[in-house]
Amino acid sequence: MSDVKKLFVKTYGCQMNVYDSERMVEAMGVNGYVETDTPDDADLILLNTCHIREKAAEKVYSELGRYRKLKAKNPDLKIGVAGCVAQAEGEEIIRRQPLVDLVVGSQAYHRLPEMAEKAGNGVQVVDTEFPEEDKFDHLPRGPKARRAPCAFLTVQEGCDKFCAFCVVPYTRGAEVSRPAERLLAEARDLVERGVAEINLLGQNVNAYQAGDWTLARLIRELAKIDGLERIRFTTSHPNDMSDDLIAAHGEVEKLMPYLHLPVQSGSDKVLKAMNRRHTVDEYLATIERIKAARPDIMLSGDFIVGFPGEDEADFQATMDLCEQVRYGQAYSFKYSPRPGTPAADRAHVDEDVKGERLARLQTLLTQHQVDFQNSMIGRVIPVLLEKKGREDGQMIGKSPYLHAVHMLADQSLVGTVVNAKIVATERNSLSGVVV
Ligand code: 5AD
Ligand code: SF4
Repeated sequence: MSDVKKLFVKTYGCQMNVYDSERMVEAMGVNGYVETDTPDDADLILLNTCHIREKAAEKVYSELGRYRKLKAKNPDLKIGVAGCVAQAEGEEIIRRQPLVDLVVGSQAYHRLPEMAEKAGNGVQVVDTEFPEEDKFDHLPRGPKARRAPCAFLTVQEGCDKFCAFCVVPYTRGAEVSRPAERLLAEARDLVERGVAEINLLGQNVNAYQAGDWTLARLIRELAKIDGLERIRFTTSHPNDMSDDLIAAHGEVEKLMPYLHLPVQSGSDKVLKAMNRRHTVDEYLATIERIKAARPDIMLSGDFIVGFPGEDEADFQATMDLCEQVRYGQAYSFKYSPRPGTPAADRAHVDEDVKGERLARLQTLLTQHQVDFQNSMIGRVIPVLLEKKGREDGQMIGKSPYLHAVHMLADQSLVGTVVNAKIVATERNSLSGVVV
């Protein structure tokens, strides 16, 4: 009998959680755990959670409830909650769901192997500290395994902006940027393992500042790595789109012409109530500067409808802004009051009104997305081949604008960029032929 133990990780929420989960799996691998894709035969289940909206947080408890049977079958099974719900609710999670053996906050992952060792069989361990040390430096790394062509790399965490609706400054803490030398070393390592595209992650990624390194400087340096074909970054705040970052969009060929730049609302009154610290005109002026540097850039956004105080005219202003910008892709949400945030105690917009506004906004955003996709038909674009598709000979790649592109190609081309002519579009993807 080997003493290999099985680890099942379920990840909720944003790309940063995806990155964190990968790093936790890698670290637990050093401790003898291998990843499994079902909770049924796991020795350790980890839920890496999201607290951004109420729905996301509640999903965690319904998932935990499902594990009762598994624990009855296997009393040695350990169940852990990581991520932003863990950070926000701490011990409360165990009070609400006593099945949980460990709770590890979003900044304490380097302590996970040790915690998993201690927890279980009646011992419950909670750590939601914000330690001084960088969790990523202390997480053990596994052997050099081959990686998929597209990878995330967390360069910055936390947020000092305190938008009135948002839990991130509380769950992820203050802005911290990781040192550039370490990130460059990590990027080189990823490229050696087969990565061709790196997406730099941060809650406020364009506020990255480590010594005299800015995000623009980091991107320029990353672009020098042979074998790294594409660079992206997300998520940005409009106020941190500095001149050098905008210039990089025009000058660094490897930087993809895609920018996720959330505005949340098209009404100055609502932006002020949200504490976004910029006006609609300032946002539009920033977009103009970016387009001047990189005319083929595609914009993506986030929107919240039904923020406290939003009336029909404010909502219409959001629709007007979308008409003006014509996002190629966007996320939109109903406002969800989050405990402990400034807007949570304000008078709320009726749920039905929120639902109706969201439907109208989403119809418009979808139309713009479809229009953008249709405008790609007949164009030849570079596609990074990522993996095999479902059908024989079918491959799935990625457009510069993050669309999945289906096409026939040889599997040996995975990890390379090929030129493809776009011949059709579907709901969320494109079809192409290699030229
Ligand atoms: N309610 C609804 N949406 C929210 N977001 C953040 N907090 C909330 C909330 N309380 C959205 C914002 C943000 C995205 C990640 O999630 O649009 O940009
Ligand atoms: Fe949240 Fe983004 Fe605002 Fe920071 S800038 S508080 S992460 S919405």
